[in-house]
Amino acid sequence: MSEAGKKRIIVADDEEGIRDVFSMIIESSFDHEILLCDCAASAIETIKKNPKIDLIFSDYNMGKDTGGDLYKFLKDKNLDIPFALCSTYSPEDIDGFEEFDTDHPHNAYFQKPFTSEEIVGHINKVCGEETIPTSEIQTFVRVNPERFMRLNQIKETFDVYIRLSKKKYVKIINEGESESFEVIDKYIKKGVDYIFLEWQKYEIFEKKSIEALFDKFEEQLATASNEELTENVLDSIEAIQGMVKNLGVNERTVELIDKVVDSTEKMISKSGNLDELLNLLKSKDGYIKDHGYLCSYVACSIAERMSWKTEGIWKKIITASLFQNISLEENELAMIYDLNSNEYKGLEDRVQTKIKMHPQDSVKIISDAESNFSEDTRKMIQNHHELPDGSGYPRGLNATNVAPLEALFILATNFAHSLIMTKDVDQINIIAQDYNEVYNKGNYKKPYQGFLKTFIKLIPPKD
Ligand SMILES: [Fe+2]
Repeated sequence: MSEAGKKRIIVADDEEGIRDVFSMIIESSFDHEILLCDCAASAIETIKKNPKIDLIFSDYNMGKDTGGDLYKFLKDKNLDIPFALCSTYSPEDIDGFEEFDTDHPHNAYFQKPFTSEEIVGHINKVCGEETIPTSEIQTFVRVNPERFMRLNQIKETFDVYIRLSKKKYVKIINEGESESFEVIDKYIKKGVDYIFLEWQKYEIFEKKSIEALFDKFEEQLATASNEELTENVLDSIEAIQGMVKNLGVNERTVELIDKVVDSTEKMISKSGNLDELLNLLKSKDGYIKDHGYLCSYVACSIAERMSWKTEGIWKKIITASLFQNISLEENELAMIYDLNSNEYKGLEDRVQTKIKMHPQDSVKIISDAESNFSEDTRKMIQNHHELPDGSGYPRGLNATNVAPLEALFILATNFAHSLIMTKDVDQINIIAQDYNEVYNKGNYKKPYQGFLKTFIKLIPPKD
């Protein structure tokens, strides 16, 4: 063992993106040392230099050599290192892997694309769970305390904890206690950002809260002001985003997602103009939910104006809008659009990777077998940070490489972002001028024309 409890893990893959994903998965759950190699030869050198390697994750095809070369080296040298093959090839189909299953009790095969749960689970199995700082976090789910109070209209109390350190939680409220809000309020004033619920309780809390919000929304629909309705929808958006982040998409969440998308759709059809909407958002603080809502509004408005309102298109757009940043924990990270900005450059590598990967990580989160998110929705999310000149990420697609619906979504997500950052509708004309250079090309051309028709007419010409 390299250090008490700390293990050494080799990740061999010729694709930088995959190595990044591995680093991210391992770093977010473990304190183990990660040694990244871009080919079998480099992994072999690494093994020679390091006295103790505890686990290897390896791709098969790595350009100049293969995972088979690496595996042969382990066998020839009689090294007792568990080997996890991560590939589209199955070990049965590869020469040299005939005894793969019996060579080592912890040898394993992960078919690409693998999930982070599979990788974390395998590391737990091979390296032991006792060194994992997050093992206890899985028992608890964090909740924004203000939201907890706002949403907890179900008159049920829960055991509530705060976190003192990565491993240590302290209970501040007992289930059934009557003055729970006063206690939470006290902790908010002390600067506590999150309270924690046990996850089974969390599930009950979020599910009931969203249902309560939804019932209230239906009741309010005929009589309440747009302001109250928007507030309600934003609360349910935040709640469902939290729930999907914490519990993923499964039979418990999928029905609630539909309800929230539905109420967002109803609200958007009822909304007044952009000015009014921005004023409502101004008082709010959560970027991810505000941006999701505004992006829904902008993209749906353009689609309607362009007569693209085919069956189900609003639902697809709204779903993509609400879940595009679902893999990002912090509002601050979702607000970074420019990877050349100093803000981005000043971040740790791990966080930069998280930002760079967030479009496909978000797609992964919503692509669970139980979800019925459409291909259009997935593509909108996957490409939401691409740009017409090819300077976007993660793939650098140009103006003809994205479909018109994706182009519309990209324009809307950027426009919603700019509006939230400036909080000023008077800026629209200035933004629109910049957009002429950026978006008036390729498959963005039509959405851009739609954008002009939809939003520019709202602004009286300046004198
Ligand atoms: Fe994003």
